[in-house]
Amino acid sequence: MSDSGQPLVLGIETSCDETGVGIVRGETLLVDAIASSVDEHARFGGVVPEVASRAHLEAMVPTLERACAEAGVRLADLDAVAVTSGPGLAGALMVGVAAAKALSVGLGVPLYGVNHLASHVAVDIVEHGPLPSPTMALLVSGGHSSLLLVPDVTADIQPLGATIDDAAGEAFDKVARVLGLPFPGGPHIDRVARDGEVTIDFPRGLTTGRDLERHRFDFSFSGLKTAVARWVELRQRAGESVSVADVAASFQEAVVDVLTRKAVDACRTHGVDHLQIGGGVAANSRLRAMAQSRCEAAGVELRVPRPGLCTDNGAMVAALGAQMVMRGRTPSGLDLPADSSMPVTEIQA
Ligand code: KG4
Ligand code: ZN
Repeated sequence: MSDSGQPLVLGIETSCDETGVGIVRGETLLVDAIASSVDEHARFGGVVPEVASRAHLEAMVPTLERACAEAGVRLADLDAVAVTSGPGLAGALMVGVAAAKALSVGLGVPLYGVNHLASHVAVDIVEHGPLPSPTMALLVSGGHSSLLLVPDVTADIQPLGATIDDAAGEAFDKVARVLGLPFPGGPHIDRVARDGEVTIDFPRGLTTGRDLERHRFDFSFSGLKTAVARWVELRQRAGESVSVADVAASFQEAVVDVLTRKAVDACRTHGVDHLQIGGGVAANSRLRAMAQSRCEAAGVELRVPRPGLCTDNGAMVAALGAQMVMRGRTPSGLDLPADSSMPVTEIQA
């Protein structure tokens, strides 16, 4: 352990298309280095697993070197290495897991294989300090949309609900495609919607009647995506012009309305007064604004990391790894797997 008594932990993230290497000391973020292969996937309209794996292989060593150089840290100073064990793309995860094992063996430091989803929650610790217990977490990314009750991000995460079809980010990406916007669509819809108005009342899935009773904390975005596609198609067939900005704003409003409504309802129902939002969609400006006003009205304190820490990164893995070290958790073994379908309840591999 370093002089400060705070563990110096390096985190590696390779579950999708970002090669992330972050370094934290205790609860302080020193560096968050990222290399993204997103441009290589854009022409396919989605992430191509083999392309992502190869890009991770090429980017791993340069990103590690950049992280250490920017933080002024030598590998020999590290107290532990953490890595995303899952969930994610199997081949992509394997690159990070192999790199972390090599570092752990070479440096003689403990290895922590951690859950990607738990890391999205834990990253807020380096942004806003320790997580109150319990915290409600709304996790919204390209692959996941979940409401989680989090008594302890290192040991106890209880899923309350999740999407029953498309993830929120997936809906953003698919609707962007319908509107002729590039991949990944979320940031483009966010940008375009700023010039639009909410003029169309698109459906809010699982928010009324029996659907709500049965799926109070679940989400569904597939019907919304289809409704947007049909709306656009009908107008285009009739030769009418379509305001991309208005459709984007109306779609975004429907997603954000459902996400924030259910998150605040979950806080009220479970008597939780802190809501944390994480995952790529948490970078959305309208989501951040509506969550802020609804949380204020409900007496709930909102915690959302800065946009760069919402999308995939290595800092989040280092943040969770450091918590594991500080709580004295047993390190993972060298047989640590790359587990593409790791459940959120399994925080450490
Ligand atoms: O967490 P993340 O980087 O990767 C996954 O674990 O999936 O999330 C990526 C997703 C993509 O679907 C992307 O379109 C979405 O997050 N996203 C956004 C915004 N920035 C990224 N969605 C809405 N508004 C944004 N500003
Ligand atoms: Zn993610």
